[in-house]
Amino acid sequence: MKVSVIIPTYNERGNLEELLHRIDRAMGNRDYEVIIVDDDSPDRTWELAQELSGKYPVKVIRRMEEKGLSSAVIRGFKEASGNVFVVMDADLQHPPEKIPELIKAIEEGADIAIGSRYVPGGKVENWYWYRKLISRGAIMIGRLALPKIRDVKDPVSGFFALRREVVENAELNPIGFKILMEILIKGEYRKVVEVPFTFGLRKAGESKLSGKTMVKYLKHVYRLMRWEGELDRLIKFTLVGLSGVLVNEGFLWAFVRLLGWDKILANIPATELAILNNFTWNDLWTFRDVRRKPLWSRLLAFHLAALTGAVVQWIIYAGLVYMGINYLVANLVGIVISFVVRFLFNRHVTWG
Ligand code: GDD
Ligand code: MN
Repeated sequence: MKVSVIIPTYNERGNLEELLHRIDRAMGNRDYEVIIVDDDSPDRTWELAQELSGKYPVKVIRRMEEKGLSSAVIRGFKEASGNVFVVMDADLQHPPEKIPELIKAIEEGADIAIGSRYVPGGKVENWYWYRKLISRGAIMIGRLALPKIRDVKDPVSGFFALRREVVENAELNPIGFKILMEILIKGEYRKVVEVPFTFGLRKAGESKLSGKTMVKYLKHVYRLMRWEGELDRLIKFTLVGLSGVLVNEGFLWAFVRLLGWDKILANIPATELAILNNFTWNDLWTFRDVRRKPLWSRLLAFHLAALTGAVVQWIIYAGLVYMGINYLVANLVGIVISFVVRFLFNRHVTWG
């Protein structure tokens, strides 16, 4: 077995020597290579890497045309000759001493082993609470939007190992913002394991990933949702919801006008008929391929989703009105959030 450690770099001169030294020590007598993919750093990281390639098994790729973290990692995959790949940052926030644990997980049958901040034993050093909150929130959005990765606690980690076969034939998008998430959606694998580690402090230099990070991340999640067909589901779910409005109004009209029922009471069966209409279309169309629970259980869960949605809608409406926000605006916010809640509930529970 040969391990290829792929390290994207941009202005990491100050970290390189210690990094390579610690990797070499961690590897012991394993067969390995380090692939440095540098985007022509102004601090000449590539040059120092070339110098150090006399001392350590380093292959240096100096990219002149392209830029970007994900595309650098993908380039590293292409250049690597090992059958296990390790991806890590150069700034020592990813402790090289953890590499053997990642490799061991692979040897024991995992296809992907993730250095994870968010499984028991893992943590982040020196982040303010709001930084943690944003990180956690972003991950939660990704896991909710992409059911395929919902069991992965840290799908945006930049520290992971995988078998070559996972990415060999995958169509990875180089502008994808989080390479691990891209791999988890498009790669070929069965078993994912998370190994806890402490995301430490950057040794030298500064972070490059600031600015529009969140926006880029959300765009990436959106692209992956499209790839996964989850966006199609959302659209179908919306259309079905609209058809339910027609069913509800139609029956309400018929019960009151044709049957002479009480206007208030007639809304109860009309609503139930709309729910049954929506369930039927969603079951046969929106979520056809993910019918795993028995019918009665799906039907029950769908009703629960409708109820939860209604309660959420009312709470948000009441809360916003109480805060002094215009009642029509408050209602609209409530409707939208309730819609998202119902979609996610149904996606993860009813047809989970
Ligand atoms: N070749 C290349 N090109 N390398 C880059 C580029 C680029 O455009 N941008 C950053 N890098 C390299 C850096 O030199 C470093 O080795 C690594 O990619 C990570 O960059 P940092 O700037 O240190 O990122 P970070 O610490 O903010 O984010 C890290 O942690 C996140 C989790 O919180 C990364 O690992 C992210 O992928 C990860 O999501
Ligand atoms: Mn970093």
